[in-house]
Amino acid sequence: ALTPAPSTCSLETFVLHYGDVYEHSPWVAEAAWKKGLTDTHNSPDALAELMGLMLQQAEPDLQIAVIQAHPDLAGKAAMAGELTQDSTKEQAGAGLDQCTPDEFARFEYLNAAYKEKFGFPFVIAVKGLDRHAILAAFEERLNNGLAEERETAIEQIIRIARFRLRARVEQQ
Ligand code: GUN
Repeated sequence: ALTPAPSTCSLETFVLHYGDVYEHSPWVAEAAWKKGLTDTHNSPDALAELMGLMLQQAEPDLQIAVIQAHPDLAGKAAMAGELTQDSTKEQAGAGLDQCTPDEFARFEYLNAAYKEKFGFPFVIAVKGLDRHAILAAFEERLNNGLAEERETAIEQIIRIARFRLRARVEQQ
């Protein structure tokens, strides 16, 4: 189970411990707390589902802001060591810190092309994927329309949050 147990937390304590599950977007944790946390939310998947619902039900502008809060994959911030702890682990876990110069160049091109087309960064839950699979998904999603891609990004961000919450249990 999660520690501290979500159902026992004050709003302040809950946001302190779970506010970073959504990248730079503690309002998702705040909304979940205000919805009412019970014993059933002390498991990672149950809490992930409630937090995901908060993001799904949010205004489109807020959803876009959460997408915008994500760093580029294999981007300059990653190379400069400026990512959150979770993002650093996720990107390294997918081997993105070990790209060849050609692969870094491909990411740089795709990151720019994607942002140019959609106005927000490419987000994908990278757990279980290697950099080749990520590049293939990147190329494919670049062909999508805006509405579809906004929906996919939100779904992927909800997956990322679920993996983050599960990892917090596995660490103990
Ligand atoms: N998927 C998992 N972590 C990240 C991240 O840090 N950035 C992006 N764009 N996608 C991710």
